[in-house]
Amino acid sequence: MSTPNPVPDAGAFDRLWADLAPVGRDAGSGGYHRFSWTGADTDARAWFTEAAAARGLDVRTDRNGNLWAWWGTPGPGAVATGSHLDSVPDGGAFDGPLGVASALAAVDELRRRGVTPARPLAVVVFVEEEGGRFGVPCLGSRLATGEIAPERARGLTDAAGVTWERAMEEAGLDPLGLGADPDTLGLLDAFVELHVEQGRALADTPHPVGVAGSIWPHGRWRMDFTGRADHAGTTRLADRNDPMPPFAHAILAARSLAEAHDARATVAKAVITPNGTNAIPSLVRAWLDARAADEDALGAVVEGVREAAEKAAREHGVGLAMTNESHTPLVSFAHDLRDRLAAVVAAGSARGEGLPPSTDTGVPVLPTGAGHDAGVLAAHVPTAMLYVRNPTGVSHSPEEWASPDDCHAGVAALADVLQDLLAR
Ligand code: GLV
Ligand code: MN
Ligand code: MN
Ligand code: MN
Repeated sequence: MSTPNPVPDAGAFDRLWADLAPVGRDAGSGGYHRFSWTGADTDARAWFTEAAAARGLDVRTDRNGNLWAWWGTPGPGAVATGSHLDSVPDGGAFDGPLGVASALAAVDELRRRGVTPARPLAVVVFVEEEGGRFGVPCLGSRLATGEIAPERARGLTDAAGVTWERAMEEAGLDPLGLGADPDTLGLLDAFVELHVEQGRALADTPHPVGVAGSIWPHGRWRMDFTGRADHAGTTRLADRNDPMPPFAHAILAARSLAEAHDARATVAKAVITPNGTNAIPSLVRAWLDARAADEDALGAVVEGVREAAEKAAREHGVGLAMTNESHTPLVSFAHDLRDRLAAVVAAGSARGEGLPPSTDTGVPVLPTGAGHDAGVLAAHVPTAMLYVRNPTGVSHSPEEWASPDDCHAGVAALADVLQDLLAR
């Protein structure tokens, strides 16, 4: 392995980041609204395509709309890195884009080091990772791995009732081609996703970069509370079929069950019909996002919410339908690849390569409650992740942050890891 120059070219990352920064950013909040197949998403994809082409990479769109930029001819034994460009509503700048911009900057860094990859390298952008528009997270990677049926994906709708099929078609892609992509995934010997850390796991440590250990099992459940619309002033309490009180019971049950099981349960999205101040609602549609360290705890939280919601719905003469929309089982990243990454990152740190010089080789290995395309791919391809420190500990919010120095450290670490993987 050639000895890397200890000072990576920070400018490469900074230029990529500056070009992408305005795309889909709300001028008021500073948050991002990049939803699949919208104008902002198209602009972000164009940014990627141009940046990759400018680097001489061969950009291809796969059957599911994921973008692959190849350095070298696509073939067996390939290494892939990348993340996503879509956001949650009013999301942060780093969740997803940091992994994509860092991947392109790492290509520049490898070239600067004079590395000629012995294997093909792909930089990938997965579509609809957040499920922010169509509800199912990691849709691009779930389609590619065959973990969601193409018919179901085509029929998913956004808040306005537009199907994935129609949105993809309007973006100029063929939705009839959707489906498992063993031809592309079968080329990969490894996938490495770099991602901003989404809690405080690195914030108070001397480590700008950590390695992923596991992802908690998690999922989304839709709850439809069906009542009867009526007048707020004239309808006696005893005569009401009001879906709001059982909805409130479900929220409080989610909170206390999460506390009891050391889990996470969140109700953050609800649609109230007709949503008038003086009309009892006919329908409350709400989503439960639940995550826990193991499936038993996750099941206990979800079933506990279901029981509490059903009981309250009965008491209020309201109907309840609760359906699972997505589930990701426990992900335990391949230990050999995880340890190899940790060793490479520690060695880079010891050289002072963009990382603070450290004699501490104990690169943190982190479990997380956040979902990632890497978690979906892990069941099909040897997969690992790097996390970049987030000093605010805040994510899915405009306050999400990583310092420029830590972003550069992330690029250096990713370049080291790729250099190592590409050499063998
Ligand atoms: C996606 O970022 C998720 O974990 O919700
Ligand atoms: Mn996210
Ligand atoms: Mn993400
Ligand atoms: Mn995610």
